Amino acid sequence: NRRVTVRDLALAKERGERWPMLTAYDALTSRIFDEAGIPVLLVGDSAAMVVFGYESTLPVTIDDMVPLTAAVSRSTKRALVVADLTFGSYQATPEQALASAARLVKEGGAQAVKLEGGRRVTPQVEALVSAGIPVMGHIGLTPQSVNAFGGYRVQGRGHEAGATLLSEAKELERAGAFSVVLECVPARLAAEITEHLTIPTIGIGAGPSTDAQVLVWQDMAGLTPRVAKFVKTYADLTGSLSEAARSFADEVVTGAFPDEQHSYS
Ligand code: KIV
Ligand code: NA
Repeated sequence: NRRVTVRDLALAKERGERWPMLTAYDALTSRIFDEAGIPVLLVGDSAAMVVFGYESTLPVTIDDMVPLTAAVSRSTKRALVVADLTFGSYQATPEQALASAARLVKEGGAQAVKLEGGRRVTPQVEALVSAGIPVMGHIGLTPQSVNAFGGYRVQGRGHEAGATLLSEAKELERAGAFSVVLECVPARLAAEITEHLTIPTIGIGAGPSTDAQVLVWQDMAGLTPRVAKFVKTYADLTGSLSEAARSFADEVVTGAFPDEQHSYS
């Protein structure tokens, strides 16, 4: 009855066991996912969109991420809690990355952090790992670089771009990352990267061959209005919540709620 660790995930790769990861941002849902046995929960900077209502992940800050991370840590017992380093909180220097990551660990209670990029962030990865903070990498479609990409599009198509992504993944492994997210890359490339790495790969829009899969929970549960091709929806929370809200509204208007059963005598 202890938390999942990065060692457990390394062992899972050795044994060829696949595992799921979901995002989490608040107490009640992260508790549900923890009790459902999701071994890794990511407090993603996708909070920018699904929690704070921004159009991209760029505006969110470490100050925003700390209370969300703390809520997820407090509400879970088993899951490894990973928190995203936000845009502008780690790129400048390894020192900046360490200061930001330390806040997610100390104030947020995260057991690991994630950052975006390959070769350009290996000094940051090394600094965090030396400080005892496990680091998850993230390459392919890295949403913090949306303005450089000119939109959200598949990355690593073609021989040269594919070879670059493979070498970036290897650099992250060499720098000490314990895993790497591959976002929106061709399935064959993700399979090749997964084969060439000893650390687990976590796919999102990366086909079936990665060691793990991650989805944003609101996408997976049908709460997000429009989702990408790679998302599968496993529930219709929009339908359920909308119906609940309408029923509540109707019953208030008609006077059906509250009845005797929901009132104090
Ligand atoms: O912020 C996020 O939700 C993520 C995952 C989709 C990998 O980085
Ligand atoms: Na993210």
